[in-house]
Amino acid sequence: MINSIILFMNLLVFTTFSRADWPETSTWAKTERYGHEHKTVLQFYFHEISIGESSTIALIAQAQPIDPNDVFPFGNLYMADEFLTVGPEANSTLIGRAQGFSGSASQEGVNSFMGLCYSFANGVYNGSSFNILGRNSILNPIRELPVVGGTGIFRMARGYAMAQTYDFNVTSGVVIVGYNVTLIHP
Ligand SMILES: *[C@@H]1O[C@H](CO)[C@@H](O)[C@H](O)[C@H]1NC(C)=O
Ligand SMILES: *[C@@H]1O[C@H](CO)[C@@H](O)[C@H](O)[C@H]1NC(C)=O
Ligand SMILES: *[C@@H]1O[C@H](CO)[C@@H](O)[C@H](O)[C@H]1NC(C)=O
Ligand SMILES: *[C@@H]1O[C@H](CO)[C@@H](O)[C@H](O)[C@H]1NC(C)=O
Repeated sequence: MINSIILFMNLLVFTTFSRADWPETSTWAKTERYGHEHKTVLQFYFHEISIGESSTIALIAQAQPIDPNDVFPFGNLYMADEFLTVGPEANSTLIGRAQGFSGSASQEGVNSFMGLCYSFANGVYNGSSFNILGRNSILNPIRELPVVGGTGIFRMARGYAMAQTYDFNVTSGVVIVGYNVTLIHP
């Protein structure tokens, strides 16, 4: 009986501290203790291709009437499957994907409303994800975006992302955005 209580307590200790390898540092993310919780800071690049056969977005709905001169008409809704990499180069290590929708949500100006799941397939973060849901004023050099929940290591995450356009090539339709994300999670 005593033995099984001791075993049980050991199990409890083991479960509580099974993440004793924190701080976990990879080239693009770092998790460390933060009071009774953990804090992960991630830095990665998002690649979108809007033109051509390897396009990462698909127009799935459009409002009428369509103004051919408007490049981002109000009501356009896109489904996206984008690449996340360590660095800004096209051949940089792929660490995950951002999947979800993005729509043109401003009658004046350029604002998108997006709901994207950022899921990772690299290192200890493999299988973990977080979601961003909010307005993205894509022409602003730096945008703050809210993180609303996650899975895996990021289960019950709260936090925010600072997104900064790194490159936008109008000819190739390639947009590269740098992300700095701060997450607080159990
Ligand atoms: C990525 O491409 C650049 C040229 O654009 C090259 O110099 C570099 O060696 C490449 N890196 C890898 C890891 O292939
Ligand atoms: C991520 O996890 C999946 C499923 O467990 C595994 O098949 C895959 O090889 C892992 N990828 C990396 C890069 O560790
Ligand atoms: C992201 O973090 C890097 C390194 O700390 C910093 O140089 C850059 O300004 C940050 N970008 C944003 C948009 O916060
Ligand atoms: C933009 O993309 C086009 C087509 O891929 C390429 O020829 C051009 O060099 C790129 N411009 C810059 C500034 O990288």
